[in-house]
Amino acid sequence: MAIEIKSKEEIAIMREAGRHVAQVLQLLVEHVRPGVREKELDQLVRREFSRRGVVPTFLGYHGYPATVCISVNDKIVHGIPGDRPFQEGDIVSIDLGCTYKGFVADAAVTIGVGRISLEAQRLIDVTREALWRGIKAARAGARVGDIGYAIQSYVESQGFSVVREYVGHGVGRQMHEDPQIPNYGEPGKGLELRPGMVIAIEPMVNMGTWRTRRDPDGWTVRTVDGSLSAHFEHTIAITDGEALVLTLP
Ligand code: MF3
Ligand code: CO
Repeated sequence: MAIEIKSKEEIAIMREAGRHVAQVLQLLVEHVRPGVREKELDQLVRREFSRRGVVPTFLGYHGYPATVCISVNDKIVHGIPGDRPFQEGDIVSIDLGCTYKGFVADAAVTIGVGRISLEAQRLIDVTREALWRGIKAARAGARVGDIGYAIQSYVESQGFSVVREYVGHGVGRQMHEDPQIPNYGEPGKGLELRPGMVIAIEPMVNMGTWRTRRDPDGWTVRTVDGSLSAHFEHTIAITDGEALVLTLP
C-alpha cells in the first residue's frame, strides 16, 4: 500500500482523536492502584469513550475482545484485561486507541503500582526517553532507520533490549498503515520521512532478552525469559520542523 500523506485538516482531526486518547489514558493511569482489577480499566474506557462519542479502535480488531490492552510485568503488549488485581510493585503497560471522525490515534504508557524496584523504574524511564529520542529523530528528510537507530542505540547503551517482532506503524483511517516503524535500525536506511506522514512510534523494551512468546489466548505477548517489559507510544505527524505529537492531552 502507498504511504498516505495527510492534509492539514486531516491532521487537525487526528489531533482531536489524539487528545481523547491521551486524556482517557491519563484517567486510566490515575485509576491504577493495588486491588483495582484490569477489567475495571476496560469498563472505564467503554464509559468514557461513549460519553465522548469516540469509537474504541481495538475492540473487535482481528477479534480482539477489549477496548484497551493491559500488559503487566513480563507481558510486553496486547494483554487482555482480566480479573487479576494490580499489586504493589507491578509495572503496568496501558495501550489505548480511539477512532474519531474516521481517524485513529494510538498511544501507550507504562506506570508502576505503588513502590517499584529501582531497576523497574529505570526500565520505565529508559523506555519513555527512547520514545522521545525516536520522536526527535522523526523529521522530514530523515529516514525510518534513523528513528529505530535513535531508539535502539539508547536502549542498548542502558543495558536493555528492544523487541524486534512488534513495531510501530503508519496511522490514519486505519490503525495500522504503511510504513512499519521498527524500534531498531541503521542511520540513513529505509523510507524517507515526508511532511504529512502520520506514524505511531512505540518502543517495547525488555530488561532481559528481546525474544518474545505468545500466550495460548492468541494475544498476550511476553518476554521469553520472564523479565520485565515496558512500552510507550505516541502518534505523531511529520512536519517541516519538529514532529507534532498528536497524543497529548
Ligand atoms: N496499539 C497497538 C498496536 O499498535 C494495538 C493493539 S492491538 C489490538 O499494535 F488488537 F488490540 F487492537
Ligand atoms: Co500502535
